[in-house]
Amino acid sequence: MSPRCPHAALQHAEPHPAPYSVYEQMRAEHGPIIPVELGEGVYGWLVTDYETIVSWSRDTTLFTRDSRMWKDLREGRIPAASPLMAMMAPGRSIGTTDGSEHQRLRGAVVDSLRTLSEPRIVQSTRDVADRLVDSFCESGEADLLNDYGRVLPLFVMADLCGFSEEQATGYAVASRSAMLGIEPAESVETIRRILSEILRDRRENPGDDLVSRLVHHPAGLTEEEAFHQLRRVMGAANEPVAALVDGALRMILGNPHLAARVRDSLSTLEDVVDQVLWKDPPISHFPVLYPRADVPVGGGRVIRAGEPVLVAAAAANHFYARENAREMAETANRAHMAWGIGPHRCPAQREAVAMGTEALRVLLGRLPGLRTAVPQEELRWRLAVHFWSPIRLPAAFPSQKPVNTPVEGWEAVEEEVAAGKRPAPLFSFLRFWRR
Ligand code: HEM
Repeated sequence: MSPRCPHAALQHAEPHPAPYSVYEQMRAEHGPIIPVELGEGVYGWLVTDYETIVSWSRDTTLFTRDSRMWKDLREGRIPAASPLMAMMAPGRSIGTTDGSEHQRLRGAVVDSLRTLSEPRIVQSTRDVADRLVDSFCESGEADLLNDYGRVLPLFVMADLCGFSEEQATGYAVASRSAMLGIEPAESVETIRRILSEILRDRRENPGDDLVSRLVHHPAGLTEEEAFHQLRRVMGAANEPVAALVDGALRMILGNPHLAARVRDSLSTLEDVVDQVLWKDPPISHFPVLYPRADVPVGGGRVIRAGEPVLVAAAAANHFYARENAREMAETANRAHMAWGIGPHRCPAQREAVAMGTEALRVLLGRLPGLRTAVPQEELRWRLAVHFWSPIRLPAAFPSQKPVNTPVEGWEAVEEEVAAGKRPAPLFSFLRFWRR
C-alpha cells in the first residue's frame, strides 16, 4: 500500500471532468478539514464542513483576515511574484482588515454601493449584454463563459463606476492578462494607473456616483485606501458573477424541464439563481482565514497559528444540500454560504443578483433554442487554488440578427486604435479576449 499523501493538491495541471468528485475523494481521505498544498512547498488547510465554516467565520478573536499573519509570508517563503499574492497579498483593503479598521472601510464601500440603484444596474447589464450577444449571435455558436459571462461584469462595473470606453477596455484587457498570467507586473501597473486616474478625476470633479462617494466619504479614505477599496469592489464582481451566470446556464441547459419552465416564464430565473447559490456556489475557496493561535482539529492534527485556512463554501454548501435534501425541499431555507458569513459577508448581494439575473434574461431571451454544444459530462474544469471553474461552456443556437447597428469599417477603426488616434472600442477588446 502506498503511503498516504499528507497534503491534497488544490491546483491541478490537467483539466478535470468532475470537481465535486475531487472534493469527495479529499474528504474520504482526510475528513472535512483537509491539509492542502497551495503551491510548491506552500501548505494550508481547506475547510469543507458547513458548521465549522459558520463558527470560524464568526470567530474574529481566533481568526484574522490580515495576511500579515501568514506564517510563510512573514518568514520570507512567499516571493512577491507568487501567483498566490493575487488573492492573499496584505494591504489596507476591506477584505484583509479586521475590527474597527474593517468597519470604517466597509462603511465607505457600503455607502458607495448605495449610489447604484437597481434600475441603473439592470439597464447597464442589459446594454453590455446586448452588445456581447451582438458580437456572436449571427455565428450560431459561442463560448458562453469566455465570450459572455467573464466579460460582462467587467464592463458593467466599469460603466457603473463611470469609466470611459478607453479606460474600460484597458482595465478589462489588463484584468484578463493578469488572470492568465500574461505580463502580470505590467497588467497590475495598468490597473493601478487606470483606477488612480479615475479616483483623481472624481476627487476633482465629484458627481453622484460610486467612485465620487468613495473618495469624498466622511471616513476620509487616503488615496491609497480609496485605491484598494475600488480595486476590491471591481475585482470582487468579476469571477463570482461569471461563475453565477455559468452555473445557472449549466443548470438550465442541462435540464430540459427547467429549460422549458424558464422559457415559459423568465421570472423563474430568480429561483434558478437561488438554486445555484446553494448547490453550485460561485466562489470555490475564499476567503482565507489566519488563526492567531494553534487550533486542534481532531485526530491529533493541529492547524498552527498563521497557517492559511481556505473556506470552501462551494464544497460545504454542495455536501450540506445533498445530505439535507429532504429538509431543504420542505422549507424555504436560504442559509447558504455563497455570500460568506460574519462581518465580511458580501455587501453587494442585491447588485450581484440583479446583474446575474439580467445577464441570463438577455441571453436566453435573445437566443431561443440555445443548447450546450457538448454534453455536460464532457466539460473540462480548471482546478486552480482559489477558483474551480469550467474552462469553456460551448453552446449552439439558431443564428440571430444583432439588435444594435453593426460597426461599419472596423478594420479602419482598428488601424486608428493601433496608431493611437482613438480609444479601443469594445469590439476590438473582444477580438483580444477570444485569442
Ligand atoms: C454572485 C456574485 C458574488 C458572490 C457569490 C460574492 C460572494 C462574496 C464572498 C463569499 C465574499 C467574502 C466574504 C468573506 O470574506 O467572508 C464577498 C466579499 C465581497 N464582495 Fe461579493 N460576491 C459577489 C458579487 C459581488 C459584486 C458584484 C460586488 C461589487 C459590486 C461585490 C463586492 C464585494 C466586496 C466589496 C466584498 C468584501 C467585503 C468585506 O470584506 O467586508 N461582490 N463576496
